[in-house]
Amino acid sequence: MSAVRQTRGVREIHVIGIGAGDPDQLTLQAVKALRSTDVFFILDKGEAKADLTRLRRDMLDAHLPEGGYRVVEARDPERDRTAGGSAYSPAVGDWRSARADIYEQLIARELAEDETGAFLVWGDPSLYDSTLGILEEVLERGTVSFVYDVVPGISSVSALVARHRTGLNRVARPVQITTGRRLAEGFPEGVDDVVVMLDAHQTFRAYTGQDVDIYWGAYIGTPDEILVSGPLDEAAPRIERLRAEARERKGWIMDTYLLRRRAVGD
Ligand SMILES: C[S@@+](CC[C@H](N)C(=O)[O-])C[C@H]1O[C@@H](n2cnc3c(N)ncnc32)[C@H](O)[C@@H]1O
Repeated sequence: MSAVRQTRGVREIHVIGIGAGDPDQLTLQAVKALRSTDVFFILDKGEAKADLTRLRRDMLDAHLPEGGYRVVEARDPERDRTAGGSAYSPAVGDWRSARADIYEQLIARELAEDETGAFLVWGDPSLYDSTLGILEEVLERGTVSFVYDVVPGISSVSALVARHRTGLNRVARPVQITTGRRLAEGFPEGVDDVVVMLDAHQTFRAYTGQDVDIYWGAYIGTPDEILVSGPLDEAAPRIERLRAEARERKGWIMDTYLLRRRAVGD
C-alpha cells in the first residue's frame, strides 16, 4: 500500500494559538491554518464563556470569508477548585479526563474522516493550557484516530510585556512564569523577575514593602484592556480598585502580571 493511500481519510487537527484577544495578534501561520479548517471547536466555561466565545467568533469573521466552515461549541467541565493541598492534582486529573471525553466525542461525531478540525487556544498552546495533553489522552484511548499539529500563538505574557514596553528578563538573568497559587508559597528563589498567571487572589499584595515593581494587565489585547505599572506599593491599591470594578462590570477577569524585584543600583 502506498504512503498516500495510508494517510487518506485520516482526520487532521490544528491546535491554533490565537493570541491574547486581539484579532491582529493571529500570525500568518495561524491564519493559513484557519483557512484550511472545516470545523472549529470552541470550548469555554463559566462566566467568561459568552465573551470568550464571541471574541473567537470575531477572529474567524475577521480572517475568513463568510461560510465554508462550521463552528461547534461545547461547554468545558468546571474544575473542582475546592480541592486544595494534596487533592489538587487528582482534581486536575479528573477534570482532564472529563475534558478528554468531550474532545473524543466532538472529534468522533463532528469531524468526518477527510476533514480538518481546529481547536482555538487562547494565547499560546504551550503555556498553562491542557489541549495538547488532552489530545494525547484521546489518542492513547485509541477510539478515534487523527493527526495534529500545533501553531504557536502570542501568549498573554508576550502581549503583557509588549504593552508595557519592557522585557521579561534583565540582562543574562532568568525569568520564571508561575501561578498565583505558587506565588502564595513564596517568591521563587534565585529569580527577581516573575510572571504570574491564573491568580484569582491578587497574591502580589503579599510582596508590598519589598522594593518590587509590578507590570499588570487585564483583558490584554481586547477593547477592555487595563494596564497599570509602577512601584508595587503605589500600584497595588490602584490595581485592587480597578480589578474589582472591572470584575463587577464584566462578571469575570483575566489578568497577568510581572513582578520585578529591584536589584541594588536599579
Ligand atoms: C489557562 S491560562 C491560558 C494562558 C494562555 N495559553 C497564554 O498563552 O496566555 C489563563 C491565564 O492566562 C492569562 N491571560 C490569558 N489571556 C489574557 C489576557 N487577554 N489578558 C490578561 N491575562 C490573560 C491570565 O493569567 C489567565 O488566568
